[in-house]
Amino acid sequence: MDDVGRRQYSIILVTCFLFVNTLSNVYGGITSTFVRSEFPATDIPLDHEVFAVPPGYNAPQQVHITQGDYDGKAVIISWITPDEPGSSEVQYGKSNKNYEFTALGTAPTKYTFYQYKSGYIHHCLLSNLEYYYKIGSGDVAREFWFETPPELNPDTPYVFGIIGDLGQTYNSLSTLEHYMESKAKAVLFLGDLSYADRYASSYEYDQIGLRWDTWGRFVEPSTAYQPWIWNTGNHEVDFLPQLGEMTTFKNYLNRYTTPYKACNSSDPLWYSIRRASAHIIVLSSYSPYVKYTPQYIWLKQELKNVDREKTPWLIVLMHIPFYNSNSAHFMEGEGMRSTFESWFVDYKVDVVFAGHVHAYERSNRISNIKFNVSNGYPYPVPDESAPLYITVGDGGNQEGLAGPFLDPQPEYSAFREMSYGHSTLEIFNRTHALYHWNRNDNGKKLPTDAFVLHNQYWASKQMRKEKKHYLRSVAAGLGVY
Ligand SMILES: [Fe+2]
Repeated sequence: MDDVGRRQYSIILVTCFLFVNTLSNVYGGITSTFVRSEFPATDIPLDHEVFAVPPGYNAPQQVHITQGDYDGKAVIISWITPDEPGSSEVQYGKSNKNYEFTALGTAPTKYTFYQYKSGYIHHCLLSNLEYYYKIGSGDVAREFWFETPPELNPDTPYVFGIIGDLGQTYNSLSTLEHYMESKAKAVLFLGDLSYADRYASSYEYDQIGLRWDTWGRFVEPSTAYQPWIWNTGNHEVDFLPQLGEMTTFKNYLNRYTTPYKACNSSDPLWYSIRRASAHIIVLSSYSPYVKYTPQYIWLKQELKNVDREKTPWLIVLMHIPFYNSNSAHFMEGEGMRSTFESWFVDYKVDVVFAGHVHAYERSNRISNIKFNVSNGYPYPVPDESAPLYITVGDGGNQEGLAGPFLDPQPEYSAFREMSYGHSTLEIFNRTHALYHWNRNDNGKKLPTDAFVLHNQYWASKQMRKEKKHYLRSVAAGLGVY
């Protein structure tokens, strides 16, 4: 079957799924009856091969790339050398082994966290995108490649992966392997990376820094080859005064970088990028966001900057969901919801992805923006201008699955399941995209929740046009205009 055939086949399958789903939704949302027989929610041992240190003295490790500018014409390459600073150069070129260009990264930095001492952390911006790159020198040099993203265009097809709350357990490994089988070109990450801070509760304080290193090596098979668009969660805060560690986000910010200045953000924790046909806004759930704060002021302006004629797909990432129906973390997102939800409706955001809750859940299009403290409108209502809210906090970390779902299932919840997995969003053009949530089914990847996403800006515009055309033709038939 060729690509067109496969696409048509997928659409037919999804249409059938939607038909059944629609029938079910007449009577409310679906709570999946699937029971996950999970791998133990414990971190993979340090000596496991997935954490293997690359051979050779001072070999670069924990290689990861992210978008380096607003429009996808640059990439930031980051890596760590464990023993000494080493070279900060990246050699790159259009073909394998033929590195015609060299870029010089920033001077390597290192930091301490309690008694842990990091390696030398390198970041290098490549503004001239090519496919192949090489870091390190001599026998320990390592080579990778990535795909140059397409030019911004409203009809550019592109596939994003969505992963949240990953951690470094066997469930996390299953999620990562399944994701790497997909045809996604970039990851929208929803926060909570390594879960290294969990070692503070077991008093293994030196493990915190080490588990940031193991996580960097764990994800390298994906992060070295395609950009992960980073976001932070509570496990990146790392505020541990009992260890004398009071600089928040210290481990994360030293290791992971974002192109925040390119979108006039004042902080690497919130920013936006444009890629292919999408405008992606990353919000920080654990930074100030109320009126007059930098994040509030920035988002207000950034929403005005969105050009749906150029990037029709408007996607927001955050860590704490606005809507979930799980006893764990229920209503934790109320503060940000009451601050930003009306903007999401006004600007017709297509979809909001969040993590934090260790389960999968998709909402109907609803909003709760009429509420104020005295008017008595406390409930979310169906709202065609509202985004879909999808929680993909099911990467598979050491905390295991979230607590039970609320019963009965609230009307705003369309589908929910208590298991691990990841999502993909396959954008076809300015009006249609195909969404999948893929369950980790005892080692296998199983597409489970799927639907065709209609663009909130273009699809409604197209429907209005078709309706107008239809009414005109009816009026013409009746002899009236
Ligand atoms: Fe979280």
